[in-house]
Amino acid sequence: MQSRTSVYGLKCPSGSGRSHRLFSFLFTCLTRRFFCLFGQMTLPSLSHLKHRALSCVAVAVMPLFFGGWFQWLTGPQSTFDTQGPVAKSQLDVFYVTLWVTGITFAIVASIMAYATLKFKARKTDDPHAAVPHQGHGNPLIELSLIGLSVLALVFIAVPTLKAIWYNYDVPAELKENAYEVNATGLQWWFKFEYPKEQIDGAGNLFVANELIIPAGRPVRVNLRTNDVIHSFWVPKLAGKVDMIPNRGNHLWLQADQPGYFWGQCAEYCGESHAVMRFRVIALDAPAFAAWIAHQKTSARVVAADAPPAGEIAAPYVFKNPGRNAPGYSEDFDKAPFVAWHKQQEIEAGESPALIAQGRHLFQQKNCVTCHSVRGHEGAGATAPDLTHVGARTTIAAGVLENTKENLHRWISHPNEVKPGNKMYVGVPTGGGNIMTGYINIDHETGKAIDAHITVNDDEAHALVAYLHSLK
Ligand code: CUA
Repeated sequence: MQSRTSVYGLKCPSGSGRSHRLFSFLFTCLTRRFFCLFGQMTLPSLSHLKHRALSCVAVAVMPLFFGGWFQWLTGPQSTFDTQGPVAKSQLDVFYVTLWVTGITFAIVASIMAYATLKFKARKTDDPHAAVPHQGHGNPLIELSLIGLSVLALVFIAVPTLKAIWYNYDVPAELKENAYEVNATGLQWWFKFEYPKEQIDGAGNLFVANELIIPAGRPVRVNLRTNDVIHSFWVPKLAGKVDMIPNRGNHLWLQADQPGYFWGQCAEYCGESHAVMRFRVIALDAPAFAAWIAHQKTSARVVAADAPPAGEIAAPYVFKNPGRNAPGYSEDFDKAPFVAWHKQQEIEAGESPALIAQGRHLFQQKNCVTCHSVRGHEGAGATAPDLTHVGARTTIAAGVLENTKENLHRWISHPNEVKPGNKMYVGVPTGGGNIMTGYINIDHETGKAIDAHITVNDDEAHALVAYLHSLK
């Protein structure tokens, strides 16, 4: 058998005659020398034109395939870019399954292709045209195939069962070092509770939509729901496990290094399911302790008559970007962890008078009914806690970056950001009653009757200044 150099400079086995060429084609596939394929496309059964067309398609598709591949590997919700042991064990199971089924597919498809092409009758007087001798099974082949199938399944089952066992709960030897949090799904946001962190007179510490965890430590997450089924998924760390009514579920995860991770509700839960996101931020031990200590403090107070810390910033110009407009800047997307650290700092150019006006509006517009701001007027328990909302990198359950313009957009046009949200349509309080939100709804038709709460641009400026002061 001669050897021939392909267009990619790889040596491919070659020879003359159809079966030789076919053999070299299958050989190439089976030895994973994919690139030889393009050099092997000189099969005489293909016309010159066909050959050219196929080569063009192959070359055109390649960057798409490989470009896409790298995007899967590095995207913010990529399960290939694992950042902790749980996600890693899940990826390992994927690879085992992929290899076993991939090799099985390659062998079966190759044999089938070989048999189809070699024994195909091309003319009626072809020796293969007649129906061949019919056998009645071959016990050796059949038993071998059963044996090989069982072996393939065992190859998949052993690591799968090991991973299920490992994923179920924090391993015994790591339990002592594990940290525990409760995660509750609500339409459409996540509440994160720290049962070991008590606030005097206010119970457990809880935050919304950004789960801060200690890096390098196993974290056990108890999963609950307040309404329908949601699912908790942090692709780079672990997932996904459903949050089911009247059933306590849990998972564990660990971020090996400090970092910023995307999370997403992964179970259809109503009209804003697709925009029910969250973030997991892993901090090293000292930073985590400092964060917990700060979160337990009451909300920051800026007195109306306090002298400004510097020059007061000129008000931003708000322009509503409209429904479905992107909620992130490129800089934030590139370096969200850096943005998170920056978000913890008090903003330059604060206006104490504007902040005080916002705090007043926060009561007047009924925000206090649902939201709590510990130490201030807010005491509501049905909506996200806003005690330190200014220090979060995202708002509206991870849909918008927490900039002034985005917060303005969220509080002045909530239904365009998250359709059906309770801030807009109100909260059913049982017995057919409803605590109205921005609009009044007719219970019979489900249609809006009139505007109940309105926020004009000046009011929104003041509310944004107040909420961003809550670091
Ligand atoms: Cu919650 Cu989907």
